[in-house]
Amino acid sequence: MTPCTLITGGAGYIGSHTAVILMDAGYRVIIIDNLCNSSPRVLDRLRQLCGDQFEFVQADVRDGAALDSVFAQYPVESVIHFAGLKAVGESVTQPLRYFDNNVGSTVSLLQAMDRADVRRMVFSSSATVYGDPQQVPISEAAHLKATNPYARTKLICEDMLRDLQDADPRWQVAILRYFNPVGAHPSGIIGEAPSGIPNNLMPYITQVAVGQRDYLSIFGNDYPTPDGTGVRDYIHVMDLARGHVAALEHLTKQQSSITVNLGTGHGVSVQQLVDTFVRVTGRPIAYRQTARRQGDVAACYADTTLALTTLGWQAEHDIARMCEDAWRWQSMNPTGYAS
Ligand code: NAD
Ligand code: WQD
Repeated sequence: MTPCTLITGGAGYIGSHTAVILMDAGYRVIIIDNLCNSSPRVLDRLRQLCGDQFEFVQADVRDGAALDSVFAQYPVESVIHFAGLKAVGESVTQPLRYFDNNVGSTVSLLQAMDRADVRRMVFSSSATVYGDPQQVPISEAAHLKATNPYARTKLICEDMLRDLQDADPRWQVAILRYFNPVGAHPSGIIGEAPSGIPNNLMPYITQVAVGQRDYLSIFGNDYPTPDGTGVRDYIHVMDLARGHVAALEHLTKQQSSITVNLGTGHGVSVQQLVDTFVRVTGRPIAYRQTARRQGDVAACYADTTLALTTLGWQAEHDIARMCEDAWRWQSMNPTGYAS
């Protein structure tokens, strides 16, 4: 049987796009997801895009027996671990749920991989591990500091992976620190479908554009940034997905572990993102300036040198393309996967 890549959380936003890119590149894919933050309809959409080339297992990654049966059934050679909870605000009010799910699933997965003799993992980390950065662009060597429980779960998992590599050099791990993933597959068939009120900026903008929300609140206009609004490194989800293929290839060829930022290296303000969205889609976006959101930093964008030199990867799509693709997805699916 052809070797497989196991994608945990593959029914989610980034996992589903990565599954498509992997299948396009000829990988055989197994998705495991408990659907706690995704719809089973994603799987139909993936079949629409890629045919029946993947397997789906509905299970919780904390369930070691379920993982053992997946490893027994399929010749898995590498794992991309997306499964996790990701809402910063929720993690502040429900920290145990975040530690249980994010740290618990990673421990359970690493144990099952060890039992199955599979020791190649790509891990979804986040720029949130840099906390309030001392300088931008942020390099991988920057100081790490968790400022909320969600960030702490990522930092704990990163530390765990570093300890594991120290203990047993057979482990090959790529820790990928994503900046702000946005956009959708260019077909508009899969995209980001947050449940409830979006926490993140781009899905909020597209929901205002489609008429689901009345207006966008711009959180803060007094940051020390060129126009006073917060600056972030928005990265197209298809570029991000490609970064995972580059990371898998690196692990296979170089057999060495890495920790890499995945961003564009360009800072874009909230106001610039809104203006670009309006320009490329022709949709008006009503917005109001409101107070800063607690916990937000002024500016956060990546130093992308290491991604280019180690992975030979760099982002290709600009902000206009991110807006265009996010809008195509939202306008074709006004209520996400419920449409
Ligand atoms: P998502 O919620 O869309 O996808 C996560 C998927 O994991 C969902 O389908 C969910 O059902 C599944 N899941 C969660 N816990 C599980 C468990 N215990 N067992 C099985 N399945 C489980 O989120 P996303 O935006 O695709 O994020 C993917 C990963 O990337 C997460 O680890 C997230 O922390 C990380 N990340 C996301 C962003 C972002 O802004 N989207 C930024 C940096 C890092
Ligand atoms: C972007 C900018 C807001 C919503 C979060 C997590 C981070 C990572 C990515 C997982 C900021 C502003 C937002 C709105 C606004 N996730 N904004 N109005 O905060 O950079 O990062 O997602 O790892 O951990 O913290 O992303 O999209 O929430 O905000 O003005 O309704 O948009 O203040 O400047 P953020 P975001």
